[in-house]
Amino acid sequence: MKKIAVFVSGGGSNLQSIIDSVESGSLSLEIAVVISNKDDAYGLTRARNHGIPTRIVRHGDFDGREEFESRLISILDGYKVDLVVLAGFMRVLTPTFVRHYRHRIINIHPAILPSFPGTHGQQQAFDYGVRFSGCTTHFIDEGTDTGPIILQAVVPVLPEDTVDSMAARILREEHRIYPESLRLWAAGRLQIEGRKVRILPDDQSDGVK
Ligand code: GRF
Repeated sequence: MKKIAVFVSGGGSNLQSIIDSVESGSLSLEIAVVISNKDDAYGLTRARNHGIPTRIVRHGDFDGREEFESRLISILDGYKVDLVVLAGFMRVLTPTFVRHYRHRIINIHPAILPSFPGTHGQQQAFDYGVRFSGCTTHFIDEGTDTGPIILQAVVPVLPEDTVDSMAARILREEHRIYPESLRLWAAGRLQIEGRKVRILPDDQSDGVK
């Protein structure tokens, strides 16, 4: 079975959706380890509640990004991780790290990329006045939220919405498309062709390219 590591910095509701999918049997992979750069990330508690190993790697404990990421790499190697799943991880990964795990890091972003990349996707979309927003799962490349797109889900922005009510609607979709994206990956059905991801039909799967 393929192994993933989930990186969190905060509440970890996306992590929870992945844990729930694994436990219900609808997602066949092993969450080998949950890594946080923050001691108090609630995602760590969620992992512990389900008996999943956790590691805290505080970026402040290291001289620079390179050392911080070397530590991450050594943990990932130790657990023989096939895929890094970013779920609200609030540190930018360097191009060196990204190249090391080329096509083996997935992220979820709370907007319809390529609109509103970066850290405040929901607020920016809301302030812009869009009628629809949503979320995007994508492979990580060297840019900010620019990698090949796996799945997207769209939600309406209603007249009575606040940014929080809109973000909550988006989050419900995140909890649906992140496990679904991982299901496709675990089944070997995601094939990257340039900046596009082809989703292979069920019967043609031959592994992630
Ligand atoms: C989500 O909105 C996700 O799209 C973004 O960070 C947030 C993480 O939420 N990357 P949670 O920690 O999974 O609850």
